[in-house]
Amino acid sequence: MTQATPLAPVDLRSDTLTLPSLGMREAMASAEVGDDVFGEDPTVNTLQERAAHLMGMEAGLFVPSGTMANQIAMLTHCRRGDEVIVGWGAHSFLYESGGGAVLAGVQFQQVGDHGYFSPYELKAAIHSEDPSGHCAPTTLMMIENTHNRGGGKWISPEQVAELSVTAGNAGVKTHIDGARLWNAVVASGRAASDWGERVDSLTFCLSKGLGAPIGSVLCGTEEWIQRAHRYRKMLGGGMRQAGIIAAAGLYALENHVEDLAEDHRRARDLAEALDACPNIDIDLDQVHSNIVLFTPLNASPQEVCEALSSKVRVLPFGAGQIRAVLHRDISDDDLQRVIESVTEHFSS
Ligand SMILES: Cc1ncc(COP(=O)(O)O)c(C=O)c1O
Repeated sequence: MTQATPLAPVDLRSDTLTLPSLGMREAMASAEVGDDVFGEDPTVNTLQERAAHLMGMEAGLFVPSGTMANQIAMLTHCRRGDEVIVGWGAHSFLYESGGGAVLAGVQFQQVGDHGYFSPYELKAAIHSEDPSGHCAPTTLMMIENTHNRGGGKWISPEQVAELSVTAGNAGVKTHIDGARLWNAVVASGRAASDWGERVDSLTFCLSKGLGAPIGSVLCGTEEWIQRAHRYRKMLGGGMRQAGIIAAAGLYALENHVEDLAEDHRRARDLAEALDACPNIDIDLDQVHSNIVLFTPLNASPQEVCEALSSKVRVLPFGAGQIRAVLHRDISDDDLQRVIESVTEHFSS
């Protein structure tokens, strides 16, 4: 008798795990390409124009990753020795391998709590150019939207506008790290341009919930993007026949954005199931998009992740928490398996 092959664990470690769909692969295979370092790749140019249009901004720049987009933003907005204000737990501060310090030569100041900070907190944190030279002058504020460590929390265009005006009044520029901006768009029902029109620069990723294999687009004014273009080259991000991957991004923008609503619905279903389990602490009000954070009460996050790993893959995250990220490669059947495995684990 043949043994049934065990099912692979359902992988909720990140939405970066999404695989390119068949339609996306076909679009990549048939993409028109040229040398993008010469500005001659028609598909890259189309993606950049489309992104800028969607964001209500003048110009776009295709870059390999969200990390590079944030690094270029800091290099373009700041001088060495400047200070960048970020929300507590920002990706650019915690997870970009010290790039802000090493590449742009900036120092960070974290403000607020779980992804949001108020105009008052911002104003109190800004260091103006100081004639005595004691303080690193603040020249940039970065808002992460949605906020990863904040559990996928999104910040409304009006909240961003308040922060951006406060920053602008002090001569500080505003950049949005919108790695998951499309999740904010779908969760809020607002247009992406509602954010783009209120800030100096913005980046969004194509390689997270949208399912492209690689790529982010940085947007800003024509003049700013021209300066950013030089830093992309400096960081080694000048790509040649990049239309192959830009085609995946265009396909994702055309076909995958609305599917994010399903990820959000499944995140809520998972959160409610976790809430019903003994020995789990979860705040349902803190489930905003596709990320679910929960705290195991009877074991460490590491022990729980290890114990679940043959059936469900999740990651320890921050102080005592576990992160599960819903994405387009997770079906309702997969979700059911996750709920059964987790419920069994915590009930035993
Ligand atoms: C909020 C945020 N910003 C930036 C990035 C960096 O993106 P990449 O992995 O493409 O460098 C990530 C990656 O997960 C992220 O979550």
